[in-house]
Amino acid sequence: MTVHETWQQLADHALVPVVVLDDPAAALPLGQALVDGGLPVAEVTLRTPEALAGIRELAGYGGLLVGAGTVLTPQQVDLAVEAGARYVVSPGLSRAVVERCQAIGVPVLPGAVTATEVQAAVELGLEAVKFFPAATSGGPAAVSALAAPFAGMRFVPTGGIDAGNVADYLALPAVLAVGGSWMVPRAAIRAGDFARVRELTSQAVAATRGR
Ligand code: 3PG
Repeated sequence: MTVHETWQQLADHALVPVVVLDDPAAALPLGQALVDGGLPVAEVTLRTPEALAGIRELAGYGGLLVGAGTVLTPQQVDLAVEAGARYVVSPGLSRAVVERCQAIGVPVLPGAVTATEVQAAVELGLEAVKFFPAATSGGPAAVSALAAPFAGMRFVPTGGIDAGNVADYLALPAVLAVGGSWMVPRAAIRAGDFARVRELTSQAVAATRGR
């Protein structure tokens, strides 16, 4: 799959669940809850020692687009891709992370919230960035202002987004998809409450209809 095709898949789903996994055994029931909720996408953050094992489990689960989040180093790029991640997300714009992804042909979504950062992403040949942390970086108004000079750049706002404000971001043409953890609460995953994840996921998916 090309970079463009991968981003098109995210655009088709409009949402990217950002997952923190404390137990790889939760990966499969979580994947099932996301699929049942109508959102076969997961960005598993490398914030826990269990994340790579979780990516490995989810990558083997058919029909789920699995990415790795919170990727901070080229070494983590390799580990995540070896575990089966099909795209890489970074909270900031690291040239080393981006170049490693480009060298091995893996789509990368680095964080960018200023004109300088977005311009650096353009120079690196990227077509999409993560607008993170979205809420504290100016929210939808900032995404809109930033999109104006960078025609063609697409944004994935993430951070501080929930059911109450997701529509404000999805209304912007420059928004490729919106990321967030509100449909995959860490506490619910820890408690094994996958019915809750499924319910929140279907509600979130319903909120994207008509996009
Ligand atoms: C991320 O890593 O993308 C964020 O931590 C997700 O932000 P949220 O938990 O505020 O949705």
